[in-house]
Amino acid sequence: MSQAEDHAGTRRDFLYYATAGAGVVATGAAVWPLVNQMNPSADTRALASIFVDVSGVEVGTQLTVKWRGKPVFIRRRTQAEIDQARADDSASDLIDRTSNNFTKPDANSDDANRTLDEAGEWLVMMGVCTHLGCVPLGNGAGDFGGWFCPCHGSHYDTSGRIRRGPAPRNLEVPVAQFTDETTILLG
Ligand code: FES
Repeated sequence: MSQAEDHAGTRRDFLYYATAGAGVVATGAAVWPLVNQMNPSADTRALASIFVDVSGVEVGTQLTVKWRGKPVFIRRRTQAEIDQARADDSASDLIDRTSNNFTKPDANSDDANRTLDEAGEWLVMMGVCTHLGCVPLGNGAGDFGGWFCPCHGSHYDTSGRIRRGPAPRNLEVPVAQFTDETTILLG
């Protein structure tokens, strides 16, 4: 990748982040009068879960959706990515040895503890760098073929595990499940 392309990618990333941030503020302002009128539990439920149609996500691509004001990466991994992630389970440079999976808090960082399905094709993670919260670049970015956070140089592998740089934790895996073959429920 040329420097110009690299720069463009970084700028887009920051633009997305800025837009997402603005969205949070705007949503908060718009929702506020409703919160006063609605049953609080109904409001909480509405924000807590969203359905995502993943029927258009090809193997080797990633869908980014906004949930609770933050980006969520939904990646449909290639067999090569799955194989790499599982081979790296025993890598000595894993910084965070926990799954950082909301539904498996006590599990270790093995790839199988982070993926949505047993075969490991689907990986759902918060698109938020665990260092200071930037949005990492995806699609094979970084030294480990996964995600790269350009803010301070954190490299994540094909399982979203932190391998190099200042970020202390693996990218967080939120509560998620398939409700049918092409729909993922977040939350
Ligand atoms: S916010 Fe990602 S490396 Fe600092």
